[in-house]
Amino acid sequence: MSGLLRLDAADVTLLVAVDPVSGPLLLHWGRRLPDDADLTDALPITARATAHHSLDDAPHDAAMLPTPGRGLFGHPALAGSRDGRDRTALLAGWRIESNGLRAFDEVAGLKVTLELELADSGVLATRSHLRNLGAGTFALDWLASSCLTLPAGCDELLVFSGRWGGEWPTGREALGSGTWLRENRRGRTSHDSFPALILGEPGFGPERGPVWGFHLGWSGNHRLIVEPTDDGRRRVQLGELLHPGEVRLGAGESLTTAWAYASFSEDGIDALTRVHHHHVRRHVLRWPGGAMTPRPVTLNTWEANYFEQDEPRLRRQAEAAARLGVERFVVDDGWFKGRNDDRAALGDWVADPVKFPHGLAPLARHVETLGMQFGLWVEPEMVNPDSDLFRAHPDWALHIEGRPPITARSQLVLDVACPEVADHLFAALHAVLDSAPIGYLKWDMNRDLVVTGETPSHREQTLAFWVLVDRLREAHPAVEIEACASGGRRADWGVLTRTHRIWTSDVTDALERQRIQRGFSLFFPPEVMGAHASTSPNHQTGRRHTVAFRCITALFGHFGLELDPLALSDEDAADIGSWIGVHRRLRPLLHGGRPFRHPPHDGRHVHGVISDDRRHAVIAVVQESAAACRQPAPLLINDLDPTLIYRLSMPGAQRPAFHRPAAVHEAMLRGELRAGGAVLSAIGLTLPELAPETALLIELTAE
Ligand code: GLA
Repeated sequence: MSGLLRLDAADVTLLVAVDPVSGPLLLHWGRRLPDDADLTDALPITARATAHHSLDDAPHDAAMLPTPGRGLFGHPALAGSRDGRDRTALLAGWRIESNGLRAFDEVAGLKVTLELELADSGVLATRSHLRNLGAGTFALDWLASSCLTLPAGCDELLVFSGRWGGEWPTGREALGSGTWLRENRRGRTSHDSFPALILGEPGFGPERGPVWGFHLGWSGNHRLIVEPTDDGRRRVQLGELLHPGEVRLGAGESLTTAWAYASFSEDGIDALTRVHHHHVRRHVLRWPGGAMTPRPVTLNTWEANYFEQDEPRLRRQAEAAARLGVERFVVDDGWFKGRNDDRAALGDWVADPVKFPHGLAPLARHVETLGMQFGLWVEPEMVNPDSDLFRAHPDWALHIEGRPPITARSQLVLDVACPEVADHLFAALHAVLDSAPIGYLKWDMNRDLVVTGETPSHREQTLAFWVLVDRLREAHPAVEIEACASGGRRADWGVLTRTHRIWTSDVTDALERQRIQRGFSLFFPPEVMGAHASTSPNHQTGRRHTVAFRCITALFGHFGLELDPLALSDEDAADIGSWIGVHRRLRPLLHGGRPFRHPPHDGRHVHGVISDDRRHAVIAVVQESAAACRQPAPLLINDLDPTLIYRLSMPGAQRPAFHRPAAVHEAMLRGELRAGGAVLSAIGLTLPELAPETALLIELTAE
C-alpha cells in the first residue's frame, strides 16, 4: 500500500509518495500547495512509461534513496560492501514512521531510516541512518544525508569557493550533461568548499526565483553531487565524504549521518537568505540562558599585539577599549606558557608565568571591573612538537607508524577521539575557565587534517571535536564560543549548533570584507558574523580606508575592533567611539530585522536591514570601485511602507566622503531630511558622488 507524506511550513510543501517496493519518491519540494488540494492522484500521474530499451522496473528519477539493486546507473545514495558482496543494495518494505521513512534489504542485511523534519522556517532537515543487520562487517562508502530531485530547468548553480583570507566568493556555473561534483578532504569544513549550493533556472537573482538552497551541517569532509537524471532533472545529493575503509560497521552497528538542509524560495536569493537566517535563529543557535543577549562589541587583540602579550599593556588596552564603549575584551594567541611565536607551546594551556606572573585572573578581573567581559583564544585540538604536552605524550598526536609526521604552521593534530586525550583537553580547558572569570572562548583550528592513521578517521575526529565542545558547554553553560579556523574555515550549521559566532575571515580589509560578508550572509545571520574594524593601512592588504568605511562594513555583523586602542589618534578614537555607539543603538534592528540587498550597479552595492513593522531601516551604500556614470542613479528603497513619512539621517562620524553635497545631503547629514515611503520607492533618493572604497550609512525612521 502506498502512502503519501505531506509536510507544510512557511511557504513550502514537501510531498513524498512512499511505495513499499519502489521506495520514497519526491513528488514535490517547493511552492506551498493549497491546504485542501486533492492529492489522491499524485502518485498515479507520476507513473512513467518504460523508456525504449530500458529496464522494465527502473528506479524513478525522483527516488529519495536510489540504490543500484533496481538498476540505478547514476550515483547511488547508499554504497558499500561486505567482503566484496552486498554492493547492490535493494531496499524494500518502505514504511512511514514517526521520524521519517524506513526500509530493509533482507539480502544485504541492512536497515535504513531516512529522517525528515520540516521546520517552521521552511527549511527541510534530512539525515540517514544505516544499521548493519547482517553477519560480518559492512564497509560503508557513501550514505547521502539528502537526495532530492529538482524540476527540469534548474541548470544554474551558485557555488562557493575560497582560500585563506578570501572566504565565500560565490560564482555561477552552468550545469551540463555530466555530473557536477565538489569534494572536501581537508578534515574541517574548509575555506575552499563551503558545503552549500543554490540552484535555479539560469538567471536567478536576488529577487528572481525560484531557487533551491542546500547546506550540509558538518564540520568535516563532504561531497556535493548534482547529476542529471534520465528525464533531464537534477538530482542533488549531500553527504559526508568517507575515505576507503573509514566506516566499517560491525554486526549490529549503525551510523547516523550529519544533517543536510534544503530550502526553497519562489522569489530569489534574498528571500532564501531570510529563510536561512530565520532557521539559524530559531533552530540552530543555542544561546546560554535560552535567548540571545545583545551581541557585545568586542575588541580582539590579535592584530594589536600578535604574540606579544604583556599584562601591563593589556590592562591599558582594556582601559582604552572600555572608554571607546567596547563590551568584550578578548586576549588572542600568545598568552600561554612559552608561546612567543607560532612554532611552540600549543597544548600547554596554562598562563605564561613571565607574561602573567599571577595567572590570568588579575587581568580578567580588571577587565570585568571596567564593565567588559573577558575572552580568551584557545586551539585545543592542536599540539606543537615543541611543547610539554608533546614531550610527555608524543603518541597523542595523529600519526601513522613508520611515517614522518606532517606539520602545518609547525603543529600536529591531537587524537581527540581517544578518550584519554579528550579527557585531558577537557580538564585543561576546564581548569583555564575555572582560573579566571572568562565568559568567551575563541576556539581556533589552524590546520587541515592530513594524517589520521587508521584510527581515528576524519569522521571520528570531527565528531570528537563536537563532543568536546558539547562537554565543555555543559560544564560552563554561560561561556560563549567562537568557531574560528584560520578565519572562516570551520563555518557550518553543525558547528553553529554548539558555538555562538564565527570568525568570518582573517582579512579585516573593509573592501575585501564587503565581498566576504556578502557570501557568508547567504547562509548565516549577521549576529554570528564576526566583523571587526581594524587599522589603516590594513595589515593584510596594505589598503587605506576611512574609519567610516571600516566601521560601516563591520557594523552589519557582530561588531568589534581588531586594533590597538592605545595607538589611535584622538580623532580616530572619537570616530570609532561614535560608531560603537551607533552599533549599540542599532543592534536590535541589525540583528533581528529583515536583511535586503540591491543588485550591484555602477560599482555600488546597496544592502540594509528593515524592521518587521517597516518603521525603521538602515542602509549602507557602498561604492566598491569607481563609478562609470557621471551621476549616481537615484536610490530606490522598495521595502518601505508607502503610507509612512520617514526621517533620513546619517548616523555616526560620517564626514562627507563626497564632493559638493546637494541640499538633500546637507539636510540628511543634519538629520533633517524627510520623505515619504512612496516617494523613496518610486522616485528614489538622490545619491552623492562617492569616491571608490567609501560608504554611506543612511538611517530611516518613521515619524
Ligand atoms: C588564526 C586566527 C587568527 C588568530 C591567529 C592566532 O589565524 O584565524 O584570528 O587568532 O590564528 O594564531
